[in-house]
Formats: sequence, C-alpha cells, structure tokens
Amino acid sequence: MSLLDTILDRTVALSFDRSGFLRHQRRFVPGDLDVDLSGRVIIVTGASSGIGLATAKALARLKARVLMVGRDKARTEAAVALVRAEVPGAQVRAELLDVSHLAACRAWAAALPEGEVHGLIHNAGALVSRVIRTPEGFESTLACHVLGPMVLTEALAPRLLLAQGARVVFVASGGMYSRRLDVDTLHHDQDKGFDGVQAYADAKRAQVVLSEQLAARFNATGVTFNTMHPGWADTPGVEKGLPTFHRFTAKHLRSPEEGADTVVWLVACPRISGERGKLWLDRAPQPTHLLPWTHEDEAERDKLWAQVHAWAEVDPGWTTALLSK
Ligand SMILES: NC(=O)c1ccc[n+]([C@@H]2O[C@H](COP(=O)([O-])OP(=O)(O)OC[C@H]3O[C@@H](n4cnc5c(N)ncnc54)[C@H](OP(=O)(O)O)[C@@H]3O)[C@@H](O)[C@H]2O)c1
Repeated sequence: MSLLDTILDRTVALSFDRSGFLRHQRRFVPGDLDVDLSGRVIIVTGASSGIGLATAKALARLKARVLMVGRDKARTEAAVALVRAEVPGAQVRAELLDVSHLAACRAWAAALPEGEVHGLIHNAGALVSRVIRTPEGFESTLACHVLGPMVLTEALAPRLLLAQGARVVFVASGGMYSRRLDVDTLHHDQDKGFDGVQAYADAKRAQVVLSEQLAARFNATGVTFNTMHPGWADTPGVEKGLPTFHRFTAKHLRSPEEGADTVVWLVACPRISGERGKLWLDRAPQPTHLLPWTHEDEAERDKLWAQVHAWAEVDPGWTTALLSK
C-alpha cells in the first residue's frame, strides 16, 4: 500500500466513502469472483433491502441457491421478484423470519429442508432511535445483531459442518471502532436514556468478538467465520437510521453493491478458503481496534460468550459438544 493510501485510510471518511471503495478496488485480485456457485446454498438475512438485497443478487448471478431471509412478507417477496427479474435463472427463495425473534429463529432453522448450508450471512440490522422490545423482551439492536445470529449459527452449525468449507460472515460496522466491549451495556432493560447509535456500535463490536471466538472454536473444521464492514453505503437503512448523515453525505456514499462487494467475496472467493477470524473492508483485513482505549481484555470476551448464550438460552459448551461428536 502506498503512503498516500495509508494517509487517506487514516482519515476514515475517505476510506469508508465511495472514493475509498474505488481506491481500494484497484488492489482487488482479478478473477477472484470468476466462480460458479452452482449447488451451494447460501442464507442471507436482511435480504429485503440494501446490502442484503445486493448480496443476494450478486450470489444469484454466481448461480448460488440463495435463501433471502426477510421479516416482512411483501418486502421480501418484492426483493425476490426483483432479483429474478434482473438475474435470469436466479435460484432465490423468500424466507420469512424476524431474526430478532429467537424462538422464530429456532423454529425456522428446524423447519429448513435437510441438507448442507454452504454460506450464512448475518446481515440483518438496523439503527433505531428508541427501544423496541422483541417478543422475548430483548432490546431489538441486541436481539437482531447478536442474539438471533448466535441462535441461527448454533442451529445451523451441523449443516455448515456437512458442507465442504462453509463460510459464515457477519456484517458489522465501522461504527464499532468507537466502542470498547462492555457486556453490561448490551442489555437495555430501561427504555429511558437509550442511545441508539451507541447500542448499535456496541452490538457491532460484540459481533466482531463473537465471530473471532467462533472462528477459533471451529478452527479445526472447514467452517470459517469472518466479519466485514461495508464502509458507508447508500441504503434505506442509512437514510432512515441516520437521516442527517445521509442528507450531508449522500453524494459520497457507496452503492449497495459496492457495500456488499466484500460480503460476496468472503463467501465466494475460492482463493481465501483458509481465512478466518478476521475483520475485512474492501477485500483487505483490517485492525479490529483503532483507538487504544477500546481494547477489551480476555475476561470481558469470556463474559460476552457466557452472557450471550445465557440470554439466548443456548448451551455455552455447544461448540465443544458438537465438534467432539
Ligand atoms: N449501509 C451502510 O452504510 C452500513 C454501514 C455499516 C453497517 N451496515 C450494516 O449492513 C447491514 C445491512 O444494512 P443496510 O444498510 O443494507 O440497511 P437496510 O437497507 O435497512 O437493510 C437492512 C435489512 O435488515 C432487515 N432488518 C432490520 N431489522 C431486522 C430485524 N429485527 N429482523 C429481521 N430483519 C431485520 C431489514 O428488513 P426490513 O426491510 O423489513 O426493514 C433489511 O432487510 C446491517 O447489519 C447494517 O448494520 C450498513
């Protein structure tokens, strides 16, 4: 990387915006996505809109069978119809699931027709300005970004193991760079004093740590876990969640397809089958901390694993039990 690239990346804005994508794109390895994913089953959550929809479309173009998971029937079916219209022969299917509803995640995974799952993309997410309670009483940011994905991962793990080299990708956010992991801040039992931006960044930080923990636990298997962040992409989610930011930056934002590029690459590129436990932006590994005071210690990481499993009512020893079978 040139000195100018390093300087521009340090500005953050000129890395996360569209100019950053176009600059980083020059280092992409040609042919990385010349791949035929026929026969691969890939689940994309939050596929009704934005980055999830762009990811599903790109994977359908590569001939994967894509399960497009959305929480709203009309929006999800419209997204599936759009992919079918734009990608002749697309093998995409609408799947109705609100990933913040843990019992629904369990039931949905159990009802999936038997077979391998080659890719699981935890993309569903939203930045909310007030506390929204899920049917199980969790604050929605925690439930949608952290608890639902863990329940789905645990429930689908046997199918991921069945597939040769399955890949799991968490779509996090550069917003997490501002926050240090603090497990006690994740659960918002009071509605008063809720800060949606902070809750979002905390949940995204938790995703990064959990992905690293899962990657380490599955190290001896073919299943890999990685996290990426998409930079700043112009999606309905950003327009709704950060309206002022969107108004001032709209001209400089990435397209949803540019935001989705690294998700698709992480799940599809054959050359990187051994990559695990990293955070990525624009097909390049990134540091998980930019500010010295945001480094968590091992005890806090262990606490996260234990607490998330307690909230989700999943045995924290599930990976050991599964992998010792
Ligand atoms: N765009 C960016 O610049 C940016 C930056 C950093 C990170 N991200 C992350 O990228 C991911 C996709 O966001 P986006 O920008 O593409 O936003 P988006 O256009 O709003 O898409 C978000 C998707 O997640 C779904 N979703 C939201 N809450 C859900 C819930 N409780 N249960 C199930 N599905 C839910 C939405 O469903 P509905 O259609 O029903 O609302 C939609 O399909 C998110 O995880 C977001 O945090 C985006």
